[in-house]
Formats: sequence, C-alpha cells, structure tokens
Amino acid sequence: MTPPAVPFRVGVVGAGTVGTEHVRALADSPVRGPAAVCDIDRAAAARLAAPFDAPVYTDHREMFARSRLDAVIVTSPHAWHAPMVLDAARAGLHVLVEKPMATTAEDCTRMIEACRRAGTLLAVAHIIHFDPMVREARRLIRSGEYGAPLLVTHQRSSHYAPGSRPGWFFDRALAGGGIVLNVGTHGLDRVQLFGGALVRRVSGVVRGRPGMEVETDALALLELSNGVCANLTLTSRGAPYLDETEVVMETATLRLSRTNGLALLRDGESVGLLPSDRDHPRPAFRAQLDGFVAAARGRGGRYADGTYGRSVVSAALAVYDSARLGDPVEIPGEDAVVP
Ligand SMILES: NC(=O)c1ccc[n+]([C@@H]2O[C@H](COP(=O)([O-])OP(=O)(O)OC[C@H]3O[C@@H](n4cnc5c(N)ncnc54)[C@H](O)[C@@H]3O)[C@@H](O)[C@H]2O)c1
Repeated sequence: MTPPAVPFRVGVVGAGTVGTEHVRALADSPVRGPAAVCDIDRAAAARLAAPFDAPVYTDHREMFARSRLDAVIVTSPHAWHAPMVLDAARAGLHVLVEKPMATTAEDCTRMIEACRRAGTLLAVAHIIHFDPMVREARRLIRSGEYGAPLLVTHQRSSHYAPGSRPGWFFDRALAGGGIVLNVGTHGLDRVQLFGGALVRRVSGVVRGRPGMEVETDALALLELSNGVCANLTLTSRGAPYLDETEVVMETATLRLSRTNGLALLRDGESVGLLPSDRDHPRPAFRAQLDGFVAAARGRGGRYADGTYGRSVVSAALAVYDSARLGDPVEIPGEDAVVP
C-alpha cells in the first residue's frame, strides 16, 4: 500500500548525480517528489523536476524566496554548501547538505550557528550511516562480544582523474580538495563510527599529478580520542574499484568489503555475515531522507548533525595540514558525538 502523502515541501539544489538519487528517494517516499529543483544548468534541473511538475530555478535564493519550501537538500559543489546553507537558514528552511559539509571548519561552524539561530534542522548526508553493512558492523562492535576495537584499516581505490567525474571536482576553488575531502570523508566517517570516537591526531601524505590542482592519492595515520588507531589509504586508479575496511577487535576482526560483503575473521577462519549489496545506495538514500524528514518535523528521525559533519571535515583538512607541515597535526576538541 502506498503511504499517504505528507505535506512537507522539499527543494533540491544541484541536479547532478547525487541530486538525482535524492529526487528518487523523495519520489519513493510519502513526500512524493521535490517541490522545486534548482541548478545553474536549467536543463538538468528541468529533467529532474519534470515528472513532478515542480518549478525550476537557476538561482537557489529565488527558489527559497518563491517556492514555499519547508526544507532543502543541497547537492551542489563543495564550496557552495556553506553559502547555500546560510541562505537556507535565513529563509527558515531545514537543510540536508551533502558531504563534505563544507570546505573549512569555520564555514561548518557558521552553518551550525545559522541553523541554530533560525531554529531549523541541519543534517549532513553521511550516507554510510544508512548502509546496512555499516550498521551491522556497528551493532557487532557495540555489542562488545568481541572485545573493544583496537585498530581500523580503510582502503579505497576509485578512478580519480580528469574525465572520471565532473570537472569541478578538480577545481580547488569549488572542490576545496581532492580525493581526501571528497572520497576520504566516507572513510574518515567509517573510522569514527567503528572506532567509536573522533579523530584527534593525524599524520598525512598526499600526492597529485602534474598540472592538477587537487590531490589524487593519500595516506593517513589517525589516532582517535579513545586511543583507537586507524589508517586511510586512498588511491586513484581504482577500476576495479576497491573499498575495504577492517576493524580489529580483541578476539575477532570484522572485514567490510563493497565487493565481498561483511565477514567475521576469527581463529583463522572467515564467516560471511552479509553479502555485498551493490544496490545499497537506493534504500540508504531513502532511509536518510526518512530520518531527515522525521527529525525536521520533530518526530525523532536519525541523522548526522552539523557538529559531526564538521568533525569529518576537520579530520580531512588535518590530512592536508599534516602533509603540508610534514608533522602530525592535533585536532582541537570537538563537541560532536559519534552518532
Ligand atoms: N553520498 C554520496 O555517496 C555521494 C556520492 C557522490 C557525491 N556526493 C556529494 O554530492 C555533492 C554533489 O556531487 P555530484 O556527484 O552530484 O556532483 P554533480 O556535478 O553531478 O552535481 C552537482 C550539480 O550542481 C550544479 N551546480 C553547480 N553550481 C551550482 C549553483 N551555484 N547553484 C545550483 N546548482 C549548481 C551543477 O550544475 C551540477 O548539476 C558533492 O558534495 C559530493 O561530494 C555524495
């Protein structure tokens, strides 16, 4: 049975790859599609808006002023996240903003404060919080059955070169950074979720290619505030794609692999717990939307808040700072809690 429609009007800014996923989630949900779509590329916005007869805008401020929205989903290039969220707060809108929350920690703070002042919800789209494999791993770690987490390793290899994704990802002014800030934020998020605390100390190395403004490859050694240590390896010639995390606990290790699923390694044996789910983004986008809408309407609802989003940005920026300085970098205490 189709759930009844809820009168909650959500606009979308950014009609690209991820904007399309959010619109699909909106269409599948009781919200029943976007109430307006904005993109500087009018044709892209029109493509997403057409099935819902939603109005199309090329300026987000005009959309906020004219479309009687309750909320907005921001999926624009990274450097636009902060100004758009500030404008949304001024317009009294609840916000779900894509990761990375912004390109500086100061901008994250401005966004948090603006939404707090406006009395609107600020949620950051850390999609892996809604990934069933990540959730099951979290549950097992938290159960304490295998002892405390000791180490987390994360390795991801994706194709990160001009032509592999829209050009703005390689423009420092718009992207704010390369593979670390874009792809690495998912890994840093995993490290914090599985390690159970925020990243406090970072030693990083980044590498790029001649003529490119952003880094394409990186290594980092991370220490969490509870003493758990982790590493992050990000490389740019993925294909085949690689996305693997291990969580070493006192009596067993969990291995999460985007290709092979979730396994428990113990006493020299590996037991498969969940198969890989290549379709995970679709239900995860829907669960993320449902959590956001429920929270915005004051009905509970799971979401990652702005202080958590800022902690992930701070960890990514610390990789850059450490790489530049050639020394480990301490991250000042955050008031975020790992959700
Ligand atoms: N959650 C995930 O798994 C995931 C995956 C990929 C990307 N992302 C994030 O989603 C965001 C968008 O990434 P994408 O891959 O969809 O990029 P994209 O380039 O496909 O889409 C971005 C869109 O924003 C539009 N845009 C640019 N400037 C604008 C402006 N001033 N006003 C309105 N629209 C504007 C562009 O025309 C484009 O259509 C980024 O923050 C990215 O890091 C998240």
